[in-house]
Amino acid sequence: MPTQGTEIAGHVDNLYGFLIIVSTIACAILIGGMIYFAMKYKRKSPNDKTAYITHDTRLEVLWSVIPLVIFLFVFAWGWVIYHDMRTMPKNALEIHVVGKQWAWVSEYKNGVKSNEVVVPVNRDVKLILSADDVIHSFYVPSFRIKQDAVPGKYTALWFRAEKLGDFHVFCTEFCGTSHAAMITKLRVVSQEDFDKWLTEEADVVNLPIADRGAKLFQTRACASCHNVDNPAAKIGPTMYQLFGLADHEMMDGTKVTADENYLRESILVAQAKVVKGYGPRSAMPAFQGQLSEAELVALIEYIKTLK
Ligand code: CUA
Repeated sequence: MPTQGTEIAGHVDNLYGFLIIVSTIACAILIGGMIYFAMKYKRKSPNDKTAYITHDTRLEVLWSVIPLVIFLFVFAWGWVIYHDMRTMPKNALEIHVVGKQWAWVSEYKNGVKSNEVVVPVNRDVKLILSADDVIHSFYVPSFRIKQDAVPGKYTALWFRAEKLGDFHVFCTEFCGTSHAAMITKLRVVSQEDFDKWLTEEADVVNLPIADRGAKLFQTRACASCHNVDNPAAKIGPTMYQLFGLADHEMMDGTKVTADENYLRESILVAQAKVVKGYGPRSAMPAFQGQLSEAELVALIEYIKTLK
């Protein structure tokens, strides 16, 4: 089982463990008894005759009442946990989460949008789910919670994360070609980190494009390989005065113009055109599929400003 990220996850696991133990014991008694009796009462000669037995009331009452008591107990136990799971706490931190083909977008009260769900630890969080297109389902295995996100209505889900860290979020409703790729992270951070993240993200929303790019340049670790304020090379070529360069020489001797499309291609597939002196296998990872169009635009606009 995945880690138990919430208290309720522990309760669910206890009930699940109980069910497995009871099923195993019942299976052993039933199948074991059947095998034992099959061997013990095997007909040994043609003269063996089955005794005339109608029924045994005591036995019949026992094998009906004992399972009934166990089932009712499991029902009551399950009902208590389910009731806990479905009763939304008051004063919970509310986050809107929208499912769409094929990503989750969470939106916070201050307007911050994110492709991950970031929440503070030890705090009741209520997710209000909806969907843009088809039915999706928001599932956090470590929290043992799951809820459909349905177009045209709101559904809700709550949890109180007790462990810091990143937890998987899966979509568990077959929603199209990339259903299996509709994965995101639920990040549980301390209250201070959460407040900091929320204000920082809110600031980013209002930044000019190039400044947003500058931030991305840091968070995506571009800065660890590329200089931005001088012509010297780091691990990768400098970005300083790169934009607009007309005779930018590549490894194979060709010359290209460092325009928007060149930058775009080099960010997405670094190996496509490798700058002279950096081949043959460029160390830069491909960012294909990892940056949105808006992020690409921001990065390019930032590089344009490095004059
Ligand atoms: Cu969304 Cu499967």
